[in-house]
Amino acid sequence: MSDSKAFVVAVTGASGAIYAARTLRALLAAGHHVHLILSKYGRYVMHEELGWEPDGEMIVDFLARTGGEEVRAGRLEEHSVNDMTQSIASGSCPVSGMVVVPCSAKTLSAIAHGSSSNLIERSADVVLKERQPLVLVVRETPMNLIQLRNMVSVAEAGAAVLPAMPAVYQKPKTFDDLGDFIAGRALSLLGLEHELFERWTGPQ
Ligand SMILES: Cc1cc2nc3c(=O)[nH]c(=O)nc-3n(C[C@H](O)[C@H](O)[C@H](O)COP(=O)(O)O)c2cc1C
Repeated sequence: MSDSKAFVVAVTGASGAIYAARTLRALLAAGHHVHLILSKYGRYVMHEELGWEPDGEMIVDFLARTGGEEVRAGRLEEHSVNDMTQSIASGSCPVSGMVVVPCSAKTLSAIAHGSSSNLIERSADVVLKERQPLVLVVRETPMNLIQLRNMVSVAEAGAAVLPAMPAVYQKPKTFDDLGDFIAGRALSLLGLEHELFERWTGPQ
């Protein structure tokens, strides 16, 4: 695909692994190169909520088996969350944006404070300094004042906060529909076109 781009997708240990799966599926099916980073608890929640067995199946095979073979149109490159030597730890690695989906309150805090203590936090730091879009699909409820302030901090630094709050006006029938709504909003914020859900066009 000629307009193929590279994006970082980080999956952290918040509830809502479906949003990660549908975002990965959409980016890969569109032929993009995905740099994937899974935190320890991101991996755990994908197992718990989606049934992925990380020790028994490559994630791309899991996505193809559960979401369709079209994910093989793109390139999925996984990086260890603990390996700061990876290409995406540097601003010299060309990426067109990053989405953290779902984003835990802990990773939100680390990004808000520029901790850079693992590859997810460092990649987010890099994407912000390189002025590329950073989308945080934050998932927690209710939220305390610290979490609310951290969302303000990342928004002030240029990130887009996309709470995992799917709308219902598109009349979702499945969890995948809910996942596609959030995935679609994330893709829009990355500057990508998609047809993941029906847009609201006013009263019919
Ligand atoms: C099943 C499960 C669900 C969780 N859901 C959330 C959540 O929705 N939001 C959140 O901020 N943390 C949630 N947590 C807690 C985080 O996983 C925990 O704070 C962890 O340290 C996050 O680390 P990470 O951001 O590096 O993945 C959950 C943990 C488990 C085990």
